[in-house]
Amino acid sequence: MFAVPSARAYDGVTVPPAELKVLEIARGYQLSQALYAVAKLGVADALDAGPLTAEAIAETVDARAPELRRVLRALVAAGVFCELEDGRFESNDAAAALRARAPGGMRDVVVNFGEEMYQSFGELLHTVRTGETAFDHVYGAPLFEYYATHPETEASAAARMRARTLPVARELAASDLLRGANTLVDVGGGTGTLVAEVLRHRPDLAGVLLERPGMLALAQPYLAEQGVADRCALVEGDFFASIPAGGEVYVLKSVLHDWDDERCVAILRTCRAAMDDAARLIVVELILPERMTAAAPMLSAALLDLIMLAYAGGRERTRAEFTELFDQAGLRLASTTAPTAGPAFIAAVAA
Ligand SMILES: C[S@@+](CC[C@H](N)C(=O)[O-])C[C@H]1O[C@@H](n2cnc3c(N)ncnc32)[C@H](O)[C@@H]1O
Repeated sequence: MFAVPSARAYDGVTVPPAELKVLEIARGYQLSQALYAVAKLGVADALDAGPLTAEAIAETVDARAPELRRVLRALVAAGVFCELEDGRFESNDAAAALRARAPGGMRDVVVNFGEEMYQSFGELLHTVRTGETAFDHVYGAPLFEYYATHPETEASAAARMRARTLPVARELAASDLLRGANTLVDVGGGTGTLVAEVLRHRPDLAGVLLERPGMLALAQPYLAEQGVADRCALVEGDFFASIPAGGEVYVLKSVLHDWDDERCVAILRTCRAAMDDAARLIVVELILPERMTAAAPMLSAALLDLIMLAYAGGRERTRAEFTELFDQAGLRLASTTAPTAGPAFIAAVAA
């Protein structure tokens, strides 16, 4: 009589499920770097017109066919791309998501994850031992200083952010949180993804985008392309120093999670100084649970927290932790709503 298999094979060895779970986590980086290599090379776009041999793909993307074939076969085994009977490779749904113009922007995400962020995670142990952000340890400067001399990395990070910000911006535009507002000030608003989307849906609103010079250079053409450049002022500045006054709504989306508590309080105080007593601040961030459990959304939030730990030098936070930050900055948490698209809208008003 055959035993019901309770384990799956690895390297010719059968391992019990508990070991397999650990093994799958341990080898995650091998697949993620395989994915990064094909995303960077643009293999998914090369297969747009139909199946190709590894030689034909390699010629198109300027790589070596034997090595590319092995990487592709690993991804086939993981469910990305298919290998046909005749040895050619074909796209599938997962591979198509990696095309440069695919709506979800996953190629940008994969490329951004695979470069400096990947190198930083290689030094996560250093962060855990010393408290120093792994990125700073590897590259000798904090992330935003590094961006100033590496515009291509900044553009890659901006592209990743755009894919994540668009659906949230649509929900904000449709929400009640902008009720009665004439001007929205997007503080550290990146390349203008959120402010552009909100202005497109709300012709009654004007926008102000406060950013560093590198991001503003990317924002300018984007706002023009979205047809809202005439309603959005671009302000070059530093949110630790000064934030434009006069808005009814201030937005900090995915900004606080880049910083430690002390720096967050400094940003919030600058915001509070710009806000009149009736203005509101909308912080858009994930809210971590008080107690972590093994569930897919929890894993995404916890991994984003690790990105902040290893890469940006910030953190994701619980509701209690946000409340504490607001308290220290003369603000009061007024409400939190959980949009379906992702992070929560956390509204704060003058205390
Ligand atoms: C994670 S991004 C979020 C961008 C945008 N809010 C979004 O969610 O799409 C953080 C942004 O903060 C900006 N930033 C960092 N330091 C800044 C500073 N001192 N003053 C103004 N903006 C800053 C960065 O340029 C970057 O665009």
